[in-house]
Amino acid sequence: MARYYLTTPIYYVNDVPHLGTAYTTIVADALARYHRLRGHDTRFLTGTDEHGQKIEEAAAAKGVEVKAFVDAASAAFRAAWPPLNIENDDFVRTTERRHIEVVQDLWRKCQENGFIYEGTYEGLYCVGCEGYYTEKELTQTPAGMLCPLGTHKPVERVKEPSFFFKLSAFEKRLLDFYEKNPGFVSPESRRNEVMSFVKGGLQDLSVSRTSFKWGIPVPGNEKHVMYVWFDALTNYLSALGAPGSSLHSRFWPPDVHLVGKDILRFHTIYWPAFLMAAGYADAELPRKVFVHGWLTINGQKMSKSLRNVVEPIKLAEVFGADVVRFYLLREVAFGQDGDFSHAQLINRYNSELADSLGNLLNRTLGLCQKLRPSGAALARGAEGELEQKLAEQARTALLGSIASWDEIAPHRAIDSTWVLIRAANKYIDESAPWAEAKKASPEGTARVDAILATALETLRWISVLIWPVMPDVSTKIRQQLGMSAIAPKQGEDVLVMHWEPRSDTSGLAVGTPVFPKIDADRQAEIFTALGLSEVVAEKAPEPVKPGKQPRAVIEPASEITYEDFAKLDLRVGRVVSCERVPKSDKLLKCMIDLGEPTPRQVVAGIGKSFTPEGLVGKQVTVVFNLKPAKLMGQESRGMILAAAGESEADLALIAPEKDRPVGTRVK
Ligand code: MSP
Repeated sequence: MARYYLTTPIYYVNDVPHLGTAYTTIVADALARYHRLRGHDTRFLTGTDEHGQKIEEAAAAKGVEVKAFVDAASAAFRAAWPPLNIENDDFVRTTERRHIEVVQDLWRKCQENGFIYEGTYEGLYCVGCEGYYTEKELTQTPAGMLCPLGTHKPVERVKEPSFFFKLSAFEKRLLDFYEKNPGFVSPESRRNEVMSFVKGGLQDLSVSRTSFKWGIPVPGNEKHVMYVWFDALTNYLSALGAPGSSLHSRFWPPDVHLVGKDILRFHTIYWPAFLMAAGYADAELPRKVFVHGWLTINGQKMSKSLRNVVEPIKLAEVFGADVVRFYLLREVAFGQDGDFSHAQLINRYNSELADSLGNLLNRTLGLCQKLRPSGAALARGAEGELEQKLAEQARTALLGSIASWDEIAPHRAIDSTWVLIRAANKYIDESAPWAEAKKASPEGTARVDAILATALETLRWISVLIWPVMPDVSTKIRQQLGMSAIAPKQGEDVLVMHWEPRSDTSGLAVGTPVFPKIDADRQAEIFTALGLSEVVAEKAPEPVKPGKQPRAVIEPASEITYEDFAKLDLRVGRVVSCERVPKSDKLLKCMIDLGEPTPRQVVAGIGKSFTPEGLVGKQVTVVFNLKPAKLMGQESRGMILAAAGESEADLALIAPEKDRPVGTRVK
């Protein structure tokens, strides 16, 4: 049976869990769930990185004893993940005995093999990212030399006795390894970056410090504590227990380390070199380091104040964990930088979750309730071309999802699934079971059966495909379909699916909508609950550069032909008089000159955006052949076109760009 071992970085405990750390962990969880669905023996590891100068300083700044400080901070990480539906198999802490022993053992092996030697380190060090730099690499500013990576903080000059790791000895072996294992660093652009860095030459690395105490003691020389990256990277090994233990034999080497671009070099150069030095053969090295980009928030860098409004647990409380997971995985092409935008989250929620998936579920169950209630049998035999096409689309979605998860491209896996969801909605429009039911013929009856059975089967497939990303939603959908929640078992591949249209409607349970639409009022409530109004309003996001930011995916209404469109008769008119409809704050009664012998009366729901006086004299576009209707007792013959805005008080009229004779056709 295949097995899959994947990891996130272990997070520094001088910070709290935030959207950036949640992002990597959510992707890892979804990927782990995909492998569990396939029946793979899966192990998903995360944890906390608790040693080093930075942590020691953070505890001192708070006036807390370091051990107490790291215990509390690590607990905060452990507690942050379950509310996001993250189910890791293990949580490793670098202050644990099991970890310390394995790290010291790895050190000893490197030393015995002649790759660790004693000397004096003199150079530049950034405590922020716990990294060494040469002067050439630093950013020169009037305030001094700043770290070129994440922190942009001033670096320190350090001079102290140190052990060194002979990194220079691994230049050639690393390059050979990258050549022979092109998938080791992904995406390819990152591989190129690493290879050119290594080709530029590797210097030996200082791997111990004597100027502070908060670290793992160097075996045999307790004045030194180990360089925090030697310690931290080894978590991937130590969490499996000592080499030779059962977990180690079962899971080593890791299938993938998911890491942000900030820690690329540590994982793709230092880590394999440490393992090589300890005697690991190429085939025993991690198989892949997948490097992802960074998130900004509403177009801005993640500053402390901004981070507060995207505190992951708060987001999960407001939107539901699965919605946050869906949005993050859907919005950002994994590997690229991306933006977290609340407006875009709500946009995607409304269009892709409420209007697409939610609607498919509600309308299917609604149709079943109406046309085949109380566990009616759904006879087979009347399946035709439309059904075959949808079954084919389901198979394509399944294969597309599998291929995308295998390539660690969750955004593409979601995309494949949503192509199916849209196709299923279209299928219901086209197959029109309500019309078949009206025929009251044996053929019509058989078609209704076939259509409902097909729609229910598609929903079953969808409930499986979305599970890695939205496990709770999958369960809720399956409850409404009368099915038990997905519970993957090792050795059983849930994704080996057969198309088996449903044979009856028993067990269907129409529940509350899984995705109630977020309207303008609810959005305002959400923004207030998240404290967004202040922070985002204060710092308006930078204008979106065309082509830079991914646009919202727009769900079209069902497709029409030109002939359908030509049925619409749109005309230019001019408002000649207008008044409010009594007792309504929205409706305006407009008399519109459309070139006919007398003006027409049109009642329009635009009264929150326009005053009657403001409308008189304006040109408007009117749906001229709309069937007359009565609104609050007033006859209306037509409809005025307007574009939606932020709210009902923000509509924009659609009028010709220059004055046209009244009655002119718009097409
Ligand atoms: N402790 C080290 C990692 C050691 S692994 C052996 C560390 N920790 S960290 O707390 O700073 O977490 C870094 C990781 O958090 C990044 O690599 C990335 O996975 C994630 N992110 C932190 N901020 C992020 C964004 N703004 N956007 C996306 N991910 C980010 O480095």
